[in-house]
Amino acid sequence: MRELKKVAVLTSGGDAPGMNACIRAVTRSAIFNHMEVVGVYRGYEGLINEEFQKFTSSSVSNTIQRGGTILKTARSKAFMTPEGRKTAHDNMVKNGIDALIVIGGNGSLTGAQLFAREYDIPVIGLPGTIDNDLYGTDTTIGYDTALNTIVECVDKIRDTANSHDRIFFVEVMGRDAGFLAQNSAIASGAEAAIIPEDKTDVDQLAEFIGRGVRKSKNSSIVLVSEAQKDGHGGAMYYADRVRKEYPQYDVRVTILGHLQRGGIPTAADRILASRLGYASIEALMEGQRNIMVGVSNDEIVYVPIQRAIKWDKPIKKELIDVLAVLSL
Ligand code: F6P
Repeated sequence: MRELKKVAVLTSGGDAPGMNACIRAVTRSAIFNHMEVVGVYRGYEGLINEEFQKFTSSSVSNTIQRGGTILKTARSKAFMTPEGRKTAHDNMVKNGIDALIVIGGNGSLTGAQLFAREYDIPVIGLPGTIDNDLYGTDTTIGYDTALNTIVECVDKIRDTANSHDRIFFVEVMGRDAGFLAQNSAIASGAEAAIIPEDKTDVDQLAEFIGRGVRKSKNSSIVLVSEAQKDGHGGAMYYADRVRKEYPQYDVRVTILGHLQRGGIPTAADRILASRLGYASIEALMEGQRNIMVGVSNDEIVYVPIQRAIKWDKPIKKELIDVLAVLSL
């Protein structure tokens, strides 16, 4: 096995609270194991443009509690081309970098997978996204913080929804996954969630209305995943439908947007990020490559990146049942 002397770390795609805790863990674990660390700025763009900085232990001091990413991030179109990846590889070789650690979501790990197939450089992915949509890990860095942010917002919306006897459609992020919508609905005591994983979205709205919305309650909150299905979706779409089909209801929409990505990471996210960052260096030293490090049943697991990015992480039917029963 090749001796690893210098590892690069980058964050890519949408930022997620806890990314800094993860950069810190990667940096300090690598240094502990006598490796040099290079921080790469702006994700894959930084690999292509050689935005490299030597990281020491103090480069990551006082960062564990900070949201966003000190390495900055980007969604790189250039890295999706063979030419872009070749430039990135050339820059890594030129700078003596032996391995790459990518903290990011589905798109970022797809890039990592392409790169790892083309070049003989070990690549380790770490799940960093509020969407929680990577297969093989129970949760992703940033998901818990985003969930808590949403719940805090919905608690506030509940006050005004109650006071006015209104139905609120609250749209949350998640890209094509409904984890944030489903679990924030359970945690905030919402009346329903509309998510891409459950039936057709039209059925979900009809079911919610059919259950007798507001018969026994004077307000309702529906968490809506931003995911589009059959060319439509989102909170505006459902609100418009209710206004047309059930004009007796007073409907409002709140789109939480990017505030879900910011903020101080929760303890759970900091611990997860620290464990995963530490484990990424252990994995490299064991000779692992082209894997994502995740956590399953509280154990560190290695998942082939190819498997992790398949967009097929299921939402447990139990969660759908819990919400349906408890919101009656
Ligand atoms: O993947 C994280 C995420 O926040 C998704 O939930 C959302 O769909 C997307 O990124 C938004 O991306 P951007 O910040 O580029 O608008």
